[in-house]
Amino acid sequence: MDKNTSTSILLVLFFFLSILAQAQEGESLFKSKCATCHKTSNKRSIGPGLANVHEKYTKEWFKNFVNSSQTLIKSGDADAVKIFEEYNKVIMPDQALSDAELNALFDYIKSVSPAKSEVAATETVEDKITPFEPTKEEILIGQNLFSGKKRFKNGGPSCISCHDLRYDDIIAGGGLSVNLTDVYDRLKKEGLEGMITGLPFPQMKISYQNNQITEEETTQLIAFLKEVSEQRYYQLGLTSYKNVLLICGIIGAILLMGIFPLFWYKRKKESVNKRIYERQIKSHN
Ligand code: HEC
Ligand code: HEC
Repeated sequence: MDKNTSTSILLVLFFFLSILAQAQEGESLFKSKCATCHKTSNKRSIGPGLANVHEKYTKEWFKNFVNSSQTLIKSGDADAVKIFEEYNKVIMPDQALSDAELNALFDYIKSVSPAKSEVAATETVEDKITPFEPTKEEILIGQNLFSGKKRFKNGGPSCISCHDLRYDDIIAGGGLSVNLTDVYDRLKKEGLEGMITGLPFPQMKISYQNNQITEEETTQLIAFLKEVSEQRYYQLGLTSYKNVLLICGIIGAILLMGIFPLFWYKRKKESVNKRIYERQIKSHN
């Protein structure tokens, strides 16, 4: 084998290896960043199945949407708004991916997409809902985990430090992130499992990646979120500090106005000035 042939063999090998590496990069990126919410088939999970998404949109659109779907939605892009509405306004987290990574993802999805003829009718979320009837105990433990009354087995902050919801037994939580009152309605059990165990949102990943929430705790949290969603129209909604403080303030003021006269009823019926004035008048006479 002369030198030239071996160089070209090496080059060819290198070429294939780099293609392989890129394909693998696409796959591992997809598994770590997208698979919580997307399948590469046309089955829906939290987000739409991504089979043949390369035919539905241009590569440019894909990259823009994946890196910041909300920016595209807010700009009024018709396709982006449509799919956002269709998915009950579930927010897809922004990804800080490089151009090369976005290309790798696009190519990966393209490479694993089934041929058009094999694509069955799109499944709906309803198809995969399994009945979930939690017990009272699960709901209560979930509530305590959510509010921080009970600590997570593996540590990690309580959900209430970032999330608010409307439930009268719980005092309002952090307004830092989305309100979870109706999240069960939108995501159902499967979707919530994906969110709590897959941690697609960076802020939550930081909180729990080293303090993984257990399977049992996940079920308890979902039990509680289901209860919250079902009971939401029966709650007074007084649990936000603002309302409680306002109402306490008003009641307090009324009480005080009633109490003060009880102490003071004997005191100065007329102004002090008047007594001095009369004395002055008298002494002048
Ligand atoms: C937390 C869940 C979540 C994660 C993680 C996520 N997505 Fe999404 N994605 C969604 C939802 C929900 C939609 C539907 C549109 C919306 O609600 O904004 C969507 C829509 C899309 C769409 C448009 C699909 C269509 O048919 O119109 C593409 C493309 C997409 N996502 C790609 C990705 C890629 C690539 C990743 C990984 C880098 C990713 N998504 C990660 C939830 C997610
Ligand atoms: C450090 C703050 C933080 C903590 C703690 C936290 N979250 Fe989140 N969570 C977020 C952020 C930020 C988002 C993304 C919402 C957005 O982009 O608007 C989110 C999103 C979610 C969503 C998706 C909401 C939607 O409408 O799509 C669910 C469900 C959720 N969190 C549940 C939980 C549960 C259950 C816990 C407790 C185990 C928890 N979170 C703890 C910050 C937090």
